[in-house]
Amino acid sequence: MSAQKDHPPFLMADSTPMARESVRDLRFSSIREVANAGIGRNDILPFWFGEPDRPTPDFICAAAQASMAAGETFYTPNLGEPALRAALSRYLSSWHRPVAESRIAVTSSGVSALMLTAQALYTPGDRVVVVTPVWPNLVEIPKILGARVEEVPLTLRHEKAGISRWHLDTDTLLAALTPDCRALVINSPNNPSGWVMPAPQQAIVLAHCRKHGIWIVSDEVYGRILFDGLPNRCAPSFLDIADEQDRLVVINSFSKSWMMTGWRLGWIVAPDALMHDLGKLIEYNSSCAPGFIQKAGVAAVNQGENVLRDTVTRFQASRDFLYGKLRELPGIETPLPEGAMYLFFRMDGLKDSLALCKALVAEAGLGLAPGSAFGPAGEGCIRWCFASSLDKLELGVNRFRTFLAAGDRNHNRAFSG
Ligand SMILES: Cc1ncc(COP(=O)(O)O)c(C=O)c1O
Repeated sequence: MSAQKDHPPFLMADSTPMARESVRDLRFSSIREVANAGIGRNDILPFWFGEPDRPTPDFICAAAQASMAAGETFYTPNLGEPALRAALSRYLSSWHRPVAESRIAVTSSGVSALMLTAQALYTPGDRVVVVTPVWPNLVEIPKILGARVEEVPLTLRHEKAGISRWHLDTDTLLAALTPDCRALVINSPNNPSGWVMPAPQQAIVLAHCRKHGIWIVSDEVYGRILFDGLPNRCAPSFLDIADEQDRLVVINSFSKSWMMTGWRLGWIVAPDALMHDLGKLIEYNSSCAPGFIQKAGVAAVNQGENVLRDTVTRFQASRDFLYGKLRELPGIETPLPEGAMYLFFRMDGLKDSLALCKALVAEAGLGLAPGSAFGPAGEGCIRWCFASSLDKLELGVNRFRTFLAAGDRNHNRAFSG
């Protein structure tokens, strides 16, 4: 008997036990890498992660506590508790075209919703187009399934003296969306740039994807965090224009709108034809979201509008404050974010944002996220989460200003020249 037969490759005695290649190739989050550099220090001002600055409102916590006290600690249906699906259906239908309960799947977080969607749609070798810069998970998750990811970058457009905005060129995107493309992944309002996809552009992209049978995976977790208007609004959504049977999956989460990052609760809206299979996938991933967490979700959706209004009002003040302060600093181009909770600014000559962010932690006690974490389109930029008090933001800006003034930037490894 040959050695090959005795020891199939995966059992070779001298081989290193390891994960699949596509898993080994996943990028490690460089935001984590920066944060790890600050471990053990309590003098850091952290603006690196995307979290609201306040704990979950009391009425949401109380709903979970009441549910636990009532003994609701058992498994729940795969696609979610009927009460939460009904509440989400009412909520979504009040903002968009009607969304039936049958098209809603409750998930254990937004990131889990993205993973389930990928498991449902992608086979190895599929081509997936992602608009970047974007939160790294949107690019890495399709790769776990063996999909080939192609990035279409947003560009910075100069509108008038000193004012610039992120912009998605429609022709560039449509050119990438060829009939062999399986899916388009898009996040608007966008993390990190705050870019909001305009409704007319959504209509063009939807028509194009319909024509070629391309799925749209739309991450709308920041849909309610929108600036420069009334605080209770919703960003343009593909749910405003799509038909029930369109190849559209919309991802959402309780994390940002209702300050529930630690609860791990999200949802998917998909065509009816996908729901049975999504239910099976949920069974084999987590089986269901906890019942008492879903009760908290019902409270958030039904009674959370005041919270949202206050949050958006506070974030708008923080955005305006930080925007004004950063614009005073030399060599910084700060586009005005229309939504989400980040300022994503470009620095003249910056070529290694990771090195700069590590230096900021080490030398200034300031925690920011490197633009390169959001794809090649983000290099040269830094992300600053402004979901924070004005006092803390001011302290952060002072540290940033002092850091920049102290170093000869041309000699700093992070900058060219
Ligand atoms: C664009 C985007 N999508 C999804 C998520 C995931 O949210 P959740 O906390 O529900 O997993 C995040 C979190 O930062 C995000 O920024």
